[in-house]
Amino acid sequence: MNLVLLGPPGTGKGTIAKFIELRFGCVHISTGDLLRDEVARRTKIGEAIAPLMNEGKLVDDKIVIEILGEKLGSINGKSFVLDGFPRNLEQGEMLEPLLNSLGITLDLVLEVDSDREIIVKRLSSRRQCVKCKRIYGLDVPSKVDGVCDDCGFETVLREDDKPDVVRKRLGLYNEITKPLSKFYAKKLLLKKIDGNRSLHDIFLEVERLLSGFEEMK
Ligand code: AP5
Ligand code: MG
Repeated sequence: MNLVLLGPPGTGKGTIAKFIELRFGCVHISTGDLLRDEVARRTKIGEAIAPLMNEGKLVDDKIVIEILGEKLGSINGKSFVLDGFPRNLEQGEMLEPLLNSLGITLDLVLEVDSDREIIVKRLSSRRQCVKCKRIYGLDVPSKVDGVCDDCGFETVLREDDKPDVVRKRLGLYNEITKPLSKFYAKKLLLKKIDGNRSLHDIFLEVERLLSGFEEMK
């Protein structure tokens, strides 16, 4: 079961992807986490993309596809859930041949949408572990403020979660990423999920949807 999670910043893609990974064993692949890792390791790519990411702009398609291709090639045919890719129609078009070349097909695209005010509130209080990338928030705080429950490393606010950068990311999403919703609806792969609800309700719906899908396969 290979999935794509589509949706605006702060809608819960990373949180839901982690749930899918734990419950269904699909490897969580977040292009945002992969790119932030390049920045944290100060690689050549990391140095080049850091200013763009901090300003909420998109990274060049070629760089992202290369990093994603490497990651997909390294999971030895395991199922995956893609979070943050594709991000524009061009990346949507590039994904198909990339998956074909690895003998993989895309099964389902889950579009999670949430209202703008909810997103802004969530992102202002999100913290993420610098090591294992676990996500915390108002409804899922770490036991000790600023410390990851799982690995004891520091949890931090992302550079791009500052309110003016969040506004920019939301604008870019509506303009550039949102058209992927129609793109996947036409391919009959799209299912919509209301991201305004509690995580409990969302996880129940995802569980129901994917269990049904697994049985059909
Ligand atoms: P990326 O890391 O992909 O960020 P994003 O898409 O903007 O999404 P977020 O990670 O901010 O939100 P999320 O939906 O994962 O929400 P989360 O689960 O954390 O991309 C970052 C940057 O990388 C881009 O701007 C770009 O520069 C670059 N990039 C990445 N991919 C790229 C690509 N393909 N092409 C080009 N550039 C690319 O949840 C948010 C918070 O809300 C958390 O605190 C969580 O606990 C809480 N929460 C979630 N759901 C709920 C709920 N239902 N109830 C209560 N709280 C909730
Ligand atoms: Mg995320």
